[in-house]
Amino acid sequence: MKKTFETMFSLSANNMRASEIRELLKLLTKPEMISFAGGLPNPEAFPIEAMKPVVAHVMNEHARDALQYGVTEGHNKLRDAIAKGMGQVYGVPQSLSNILITTGSQQAMNLLSLILLSPGDLVLTENPTYLGALQSFYACQARVEAVPMDEHGMRMDALEEKLNSLRQRQERPKFIYMVPTFQNPTGVTLSRERRERLYALLQERDLLLIEDDPYGLLRFEGETVPLIKSLDQEDRVIYLGSFSKILAPGFRTGWLAAPEEIVNRAGLAKQAQDLCSNTFGQYCVFEALYHNILFPHVKEIVALYKRKRDIMLDAMQKYFPKGVTWNKPAGGMFIWVTLPPALNALDLLGKAIENNVAYVTGEPFFPNGGGQNHCRMNYSYSSDEAIVEGIKRLGRVMEEQLREKTNPQKLAPEGMEIF
Ligand SMILES: Cc1ncc(COP(=O)(O)O)c(C=O)c1O
Repeated sequence: MKKTFETMFSLSANNMRASEIRELLKLLTKPEMISFAGGLPNPEAFPIEAMKPVVAHVMNEHARDALQYGVTEGHNKLRDAIAKGMGQVYGVPQSLSNILITTGSQQAMNLLSLILLSPGDLVLTENPTYLGALQSFYACQARVEAVPMDEHGMRMDALEEKLNSLRQRQERPKFIYMVPTFQNPTGVTLSRERRERLYALLQERDLLLIEDDPYGLLRFEGETVPLIKSLDQEDRVIYLGSFSKILAPGFRTGWLAAPEEIVNRAGLAKQAQDLCSNTFGQYCVFEALYHNILFPHVKEIVALYKRKRDIMLDAMQKYFPKGVTWNKPAGGMFIWVTLPPALNALDLLGKAIENNVAYVTGEPFFPNGGGQNHCRMNYSYSSDEAIVEGIKRLGRVMEEQLREKTNPQKLAPEGMEIF
């Protein structure tokens, strides 16, 4: 008899949603596939040679500790280095007790969801927003309402309007979740003015913000914008950092910087999840910081990804049909593409896959629906040649679909909003 566990699953399990990205990552295994789908760093961006002596040093000098279980809150030397580093790099020095090491920043999101969200609680996000965050919120049976954004990030007028309408419903969001710098999926950065307005709103409305920042150091050009955390004098901003995109995701090392009370409670939740993050990985990351491998290496990643972004932008210009538009992110790993209304990103994806090229459709990033004519294109992972070839293939598929589905009058008018 075929057994099903459908009736056994918890409310929480039934509220979980499959990530389209995880499903799509399976496509990467087909050797002929050119995938712009995953959010993967390029293996060329891993500091393999530089890390070999570091890993040997950890094994030679620290193996007895590095191979042992560690403290749930994390390797203290690493916590301390991050606490001080946040001062040196961002001007927001922390104490060791404000830092919790996590198994990637994904776990930080999970822990915060666990300790802050009860079933039915409301979270506000950007529209669109990061899928992994939505998965954490939904697993805690939270509701999500998304606030529109444009090329300068979340629109503060729209946020204010949303907060007013919530007040009328006598509702308050538990927190606002945001990826303010080189956002996943759009690559967009929240402007300095909007950061200031946002922080003022947090104060006026007594709100909490989760600032998720895995891409902030991957800036190709333009002026650095301050962390929202750097404006915070009132413990309203919880910062999430990660070594995944600036060192290597395989170390599974991220952190949250928060008031001690949050660190302690999240640490308690972490005990039940994994006892401690990968001790060996934490030792390696600490040594990479200590031996000054990280920051020179980030410069190399930035040069590599800038080149890849430019190659993708040039190829889009050359091969995408008229009516398809896209943005030019100043950093990070993604370009956000807008299709003309006649095209649907999911239908197009079917055809694209037949032609051995893949991307992620926009729709799953929009928690309240919409986004059918958007695609997220990752440029960090593919080789330079594959980027050109993949965009060429996609351009051809778009042309074909446009010819089949529409006459030219139906294309998007110039200057149409991109979100
Ligand atoms: C916005 C954002 N936050 C968090 C993560 C999770 O990263 P990690 O758990 O590897 O630190 C990702 C990964 O792609 C991301 O894009």
